[in-house]
Amino acid sequence: MEELRLDSLDGVGPVTTKKLTDAGIHNIMDLVVRGPVEVAEITGMDKETAEKIVNKARQQLVEEGLIAKDFVSATEIYKRRQDIGKISTGTNCLDLLFDGGIETQALTEVYGEFGSGKTQFCHTMCVNVQKTKEEGGQEGGVLYIDTENTFRPERIVSIAKANGMDPEKVLDRIIVARAYNSAHQILILEEAGPIIKENNIKLIVTDSAAGLFRAEYLGRGTLSERQQRLNKFLHLLVRTAETYNCAAIATNQVMSSPDVFFGDPTRPIGGNIVAHTSTYRVYFKKSGKKRIARMVDSPHHPEQEVIFTLTEAGVSDPEEETKKKKKEESE
Ligand SMILES: Nc1ncnc2c1ncn2[C@@H]1O[C@H](COP(=O)(O)OP(=O)(O)O)[C@@H](O)[C@H]1O
Ligand SMILES: [Mg+2]
Repeated sequence: MEELRLDSLDGVGPVTTKKLTDAGIHNIMDLVVRGPVEVAEITGMDKETAEKIVNKARQQLVEEGLIAKDFVSATEIYKRRQDIGKISTGTNCLDLLFDGGIETQALTEVYGEFGSGKTQFCHTMCVNVQKTKEEGGQEGGVLYIDTENTFRPERIVSIAKANGMDPEKVLDRIIVARAYNSAHQILILEEAGPIIKENNIKLIVTDSAAGLFRAEYLGRGTLSERQQRLNKFLHLLVRTAETYNCAAIATNQVMSSPDVFFGDPTRPIGGNIVAHTSTYRVYFKKSGKKRIARMVDSPHHPEQEVIFTLTEAGVSDPEEETKKKKKEESE
């Protein structure tokens, strides 16, 4: 987009443009997303200059109507919130929990023990976001940051087929970035701006968000450093979701057994690291073959639980499965 060019800013000439581009900042949206402290850090420019440039970038985006002003009336916030899109989960039970689906401009944290369905949920949402708005989607693509090597295109194919969609087209709209360490995970998101715009990305999945940080920062001595780094990633994720009107999902693995864990076993390991930044937190729990999802700490959802299942079609309503079984039996 022409109006987003770095050199469209007053006082930004070819030299500064090059400095910024070399540091992975390609347009004025990137400037705002990264913020002055980071811009100074990665380009080596002094803090005052970075602040000036970022402020100008922010002003320009406000003028273009691309981001909200610093001081806004409640009416304007209300209007901006009207732009929030929802992505249906494709199930009645989880849509009830999310009040229609997961939101754009927001981060949804899904935490739960191993095998509780976090990754299956992510895969299902990769398909659902591509549906038309009438069908509960956002007609958008996906950026999938895979940190555990658990992304499976085969699952996308079966979920797409179950939804009557062309699997090849669905796969084509999912961009997968495999993160090898926590620094790489942050870098992927920092560089994602142009990809998000070019591909009309409406969903950013990070599965898992905390895993690499946890593995790399072992021991109590490095706990606060780990939190800082993870926070940096999550704040960037929230800002990116807000700036580009995308939905973000971050998964977080927790232990379930109360005797290995002091305090509330349903709290994520590492405390409430994610809680401060995520807008919605959902806890997934195994219950035999079924799964329970509970909405935790939401600013405007009631705290409630629903039961769902995992099938070939991804996350599903429990009744659907019962119906299908009955049909198979009667055939
Ligand atoms: N094709 C499938 N059909 C039915 N259930 C499946 C399928 N693939 C995975 N599952 C279910 O998903 C579970 C794994 O969920 P997953 O999302 O990988 O857990 P998590 O990411 O929370 O560790 C499996 O135990 C199984 O119950
Ligand atoms: Mg998983």
